Amino acid sequence: MRIAFVVADWTEMTPGKSSTLAMIRESVARGHQTYILYPRNLTVRDNVAYGFARRINVEGKVSEAVPSFYKKVTLTEKMLPLHSLDAIFVRRDPPLDPIVLNFLDSIKAETVVLNDVDGIRKANNKIYTTSFHTVGPEYLPETYVSKNKDYLKRIIRESDRDRWILKPLDGSGGRGVILLETKAQGSLNSLLDFYIDTNHGQSNYVILQEYLEAAQEGDVRVLMLGGEYLGAYQRKPSPDDIRANIQAGATAHKVTLSDEQHQLLRKIGPQLMADGLHFVGLDLIGNKLLEVNVLNPGGITNINRLSRKKLEKNVLDYVERLVAERHAKHSELEIRLSRLAELRQHLDGAH
Ligand SMILES: Nc1ncnc2c1ncn2[C@@H]1O[C@H](COP(=O)(O)OP(=O)(O)O)[C@@H](O)[C@H]1O
Ligand SMILES: [Mg+2]
Repeated sequence: MRIAFVVADWTEMTPGKSSTLAMIRESVARGHQTYILYPRNLTVRDNVAYGFARRINVEGKVSEAVPSFYKKVTLTEKMLPLHSLDAIFVRRDPPLDPIVLNFLDSIKAETVVLNDVDGIRKANNKIYTTSFHTVGPEYLPETYVSKNKDYLKRIIRESDRDRWILKPLDGSGGRGVILLETKAQGSLNSLLDFYIDTNHGQSNYVILQEYLEAAQEGDVRVLMLGGEYLGAYQRKPSPDDIRANIQAGATAHKVTLSDEQHQLLRKIGPQLMADGLHFVGLDLIGNKLLEVNVLNPGGITNINRLSRKKLEKNVLDYVERLVAERHAKHSELEIRLSRLAELRQHLDGAH
């Protein structure tokens, strides 16, 4: 199988921590031709989408441990038509340049793309979470998305909540997530100006959200594969921070999900699959769904360490199955087309 991973930068990956690298090692160990692709290296030649891909080579046996695997890798550049790949895994932090999705659109009928291009498009910012209101509004924090400062100020004024969260619509890694205390409003105008106004004339949307008290215990990162629970761990913020992102200094802990949380996952799974979101990371606080990460969810290495798993194997099994299903569908289609052609010939002969 030929599989490519769209990543930000090979040299900046952290072996032992990166979920993507764990998947890449597994792919190479299984003997798949494995490549990395940078978004800037996508191109169209004579109406066909290509990538200047880097093939991952390892001399001799592939190490079990990711850090020694990473050290031994050499990369060779190769210009590949994207449709010659069996699968492409998009593993880049948001925001993703939407042009990348256009390149992938042109080959998605032939190549399995994870997550589905249309799913990534649909879930490319935090508004996506609101599409789960049908699951039950009690599973979502009270959330407002707007660029209207007066409206947001009115929400705060008219509510009796004393704590809110303000965050950018398309942030990640906890960037720009701040706690607003209703009693200390002196900075509110300035904050809204800062988050909403830009120098380029186009303003930004922000999220104003109820502060979930349960967040003090941290949040739970759940990995979902094929619409089903794959694994989870708890992230506890450092004592001087409200954010439970690992990038913001949170620590990782083993967790057992409650029955209610499993019930929420069973309700979410089918919609994720309907949207082509095969491999995602959910952020849960208590029984509430905070975020659906569809581009580059982490968690594999922490869950592996805490729960003695090798989740990258499950992910590769899953990708291999999708590719096999795709091939089977294509060959069935080819058989039907050739039968149709035979039938036509037959009918033509009869006339
Ligand atoms: N409404 C909230 N209540 C309490 N804590 C929150 C809330 N929103 C965000 N946080 C904290 O900030 C972290 C990052 O927020 P999140 O919405 O997941 O954005 P990001 O994409 O930056 O990870 C969360 O993991 C949580 O610890
Ligand atoms: Mg998050």
